[in-house]
Amino acid sequence: MNETLLALLEKLAKIGEDNDARETSRSKRLLNITCDTGRFLWILVRATGTTRILEVGTSNAFSTIWLADAARSTGGRVTTLESDPEKIALARANLMTAGLEGVVDIIEGRAIDTLSSLPGPFDVVFLDADRPSYLAYLELVVPKLRPGGLLIADNATSHEHELRDYISRVKSHPLLFAVTVPIGNGEEIALKLRDSV
Ligand SMILES: C[S@@+](CC[C@H](N)C(=O)[O-])C[C@H]1O[C@@H](n2cnc3c(N)ncnc32)[C@H](O)[C@@H]1O
Repeated sequence: MNETLLALLEKLAKIGEDNDARETSRSKRLLNITCDTGRFLWILVRATGTTRILEVGTSNAFSTIWLADAARSTGGRVTTLESDPEKIALARANLMTAGLEGVVDIIEGRAIDTLSSLPGPFDVVFLDADRPSYLAYLELVVPKLRPGGLLIADNATSHEHELRDYISRVKSHPLLFAVTVPIGNGEEIALKLRDSV
């Protein structure tokens, strides 16, 4: 992570905070991860040499930039799913500014549809979109995750009540071993242990 990119991420974090304080409509909010979570994801990708990353919930590509910068150094790519065309336009502009457009594929549409069409396998999947759908995403994603891969969900502590069923499922899933990490808004991290029980 070079200083220029860190400065851009700090600038984007401020833009996101100011925007979200101003906007009353949820769809207009950017709802970015925290910088600590960005650093955490970056370190995870670099430390594990991850190359195949899937993100659900691009927004303006703030989290995507953290993931994509790490992926660039591992020779990897990020596929990121977003349903809002205005946010995709912002994401494309931010990725261009970051010089990371070449390592990111943005797929437009409802994640439940676009996810189904992705073959995988993935090394890391990061969920940060419509929380009521996480259980459905979990069932779609686990078969596409390689054994040893990570399924990470944001907002595990900030929206614990909304994610209760999801967290309960990942913690009791026969193919996963999970822990809640109290960083940023809380990351539920599940390691895929094997392909079948
Ligand atoms: C919490 S924001 C993502 C923030 C982003 N990961 C970041 O940290 O910069 C959630 C995003 O998911 C998108 N989204 C919500 N429901 C979706 C769906 N069903 N399919 C695809 N994207 C969806 C929203 O438009 C929004 O941009």
